[in-house]
Amino acid sequence: MALSQAIKIIFFLFYTRGCQAEVTSHAIIPIIPPNFTQLAEKAGLPCEQVDITTEDGYILTIFHIPGNESHPVLVQSGNLGTSDDYITRGTTSLPYVLWQAGYDVWMANVRGCRYGRRHVTLNPDLDDEFWNFSFHEFAIYDAPAMIDYILNRTKAATLSAIAWSLGTTVYYVLGAEKPEYNKKIDVMISFAPICYFQHSIPLDLIGQKNSDTIYGNETKLTDQYEVFGENSTTVARYRIRCSTPAKAYENCVLPIFFPIMGYDEEQLEPEFAPLVCQHWPSSSSSRTLIHQDQILLSRTFAQYDYGPTENEIRYGCSKPKEYDLSKNNISIVLISGKNDQTSTLLDVDLLKTKLPNVRKDIILEPEKFNHLDFVAGRDTHKVLYEPIILEILKEYNNINDC
Ligand SMILES: *[C@@H]1O[C@H](CO)[C@@H](O)[C@H](O)[C@H]1NC(C)=O
Ligand SMILES: *[C@@H]1O[C@H](CO)[C@@H](O)[C@H](O)[C@H]1NC(C)=O
Ligand SMILES: *[C@@H]1O[C@H](CO)[C@@H](O)[C@H](O)[C@H]1NC(C)=O
Ligand SMILES: *[C@@H]1O[C@H](CO)[C@@H](O)[C@H](O)[C@H]1NC(C)=O
Ligand SMILES: *[C@@H]1O[C@H](CO)[C@@H](O)[C@H](O)[C@H]1NC(C)=O
Ligand SMILES: *[C@@H]1O[C@H](CO)[C@@H](O)[C@H](O)[C@H]1NC(C)=O
Ligand SMILES: *[C@@H]1O[C@H](CO)[C@@H](O)[C@H](O)[C@H]1NC(C)=O
Repeated sequence: MALSQAIKIIFFLFYTRGCQAEVTSHAIIPIIPPNFTQLAEKAGLPCEQVDITTEDGYILTIFHIPGNESHPVLVQSGNLGTSDDYITRGTTSLPYVLWQAGYDVWMANVRGCRYGRRHVTLNPDLDDEFWNFSFHEFAIYDAPAMIDYILNRTKAATLSAIAWSLGTTVYYVLGAEKPEYNKKIDVMISFAPICYFQHSIPLDLIGQKNSDTIYGNETKLTDQYEVFGENSTTVARYRIRCSTPAKAYENCVLPIFFPIMGYDEEQLEPEFAPLVCQHWPSSSSSRTLIHQDQILLSRTFAQYDYGPTENEIRYGCSKPKEYDLSKNNISIVLISGKNDQTSTLLDVDLLKTKLPNVRKDIILEPEKFNHLDFVAGRDTHKVLYEPIILEILKEYNNINDC
């Protein structure tokens, strides 16, 4: 099951059913979570904010945690995510561990999220055209803009990339669509790789809830608009309903996160759950979710399906063009969790047969390690970041201990 299915369930629970007992519709004050700079400061990390403009005019704010410029690492979040998802654990979070080991850390953000709602000419609140993108555009515009900026700024020949969930998809598409980027990345570490959705947990879990209403507006005429806007009623209600440890567990973690991502109570203690719910989901475009559903339903890793007429114009064929993963020659390390119900071991096996340059395929030891644990698990620094990630980075950055 796609993460977009999770989004649908969240919407179903929080929007269609409403929650009048807890909030009245005319008095919802959105909870705006602290931003990356504030979270970094709290953890004691230096942090520089950098604005980058993509070739097609989107302005992205990314964050730089300065280290040794010979060794830049770019870290990318997942579906409906932002840089913030990685730093909620403070001094045991991935950026902290990388910074302590000396790396020059760059935290990516893509168009549409809370740090990507600006454009040189388009207004996200007024122009539908602003939301005319899916993860395809993250890969062909956003990732290249960030990579080129970092390599120019640091003067390093290559960078290492770490991505989680849909963030990994971005690199699979990038290497296939823009093969000139293959040589700019020394290693791409995939947390919970997402490409095929052929063995995710059964769709019938959501059954009839999977309707168009889920995106928050059944009267929308096009498939192109913002989802999970920071000030939307949906997000305001969701954040209020998940704002205390008990409520977050009862309303969000147990009914939504765990069925979709795998059960792992040990790694997501109740006191920590509200923080996760405050930051995820962040805003994005409807097409990012619809594109994933198309891949799931068509069982094909292809570009956006605009319908036969528009496909003919764009791709010269009535069906959307399939991504040619054989062109992706990035050195890739796949890392999976045994209990990850979103990125399953069987789907990762399938992906492995399609990518030409998989260097390692690691299945983490803990039996309960789930989709969320990659970024938010209580002990992930001990299980993954310190023993595995730092070792892989050393190898591909030619760093010797002695
Ligand atoms: C983060 O929040 C601080 C305090 O409100 C603000 O000064 C800063 O501009 C914000 N940064 C971003 C990138 O939103
Ligand atoms: C930065 O990395 C380079 C290349 O690995 C190394 O030669 C240099 O000593 C490092 N600088 C610091 C301050 O550690
Ligand atoms: C969406 O973007 C594509 C280019 O990627 C462009 O051809 C198309 O006209 C745009 N559509 C709208 C409605 O903005
Ligand atoms: C690289 O950075 C310099 C400024 O540091 C800038 O003048 C130049 O245009 C940049 N080059 C590219 C290709 O972005
Ligand atoms: C739904 O979309 C329509 C048309 O774009 C708009 O007029 C309406 O206000 C929207 N409703 C909600 C609840 O967002
Ligand atoms: C949400 O509302 C606040 C207060 O009106 C505003 O400052 C902020 O820009 C809004 N955020 C978005 C993403 O529209
Ligand atoms: C792919 O990359 C490997 C090294 O990572 C290199 O040996 C090989 O020649 C590359 N293949 C192509 C077709 O570029």
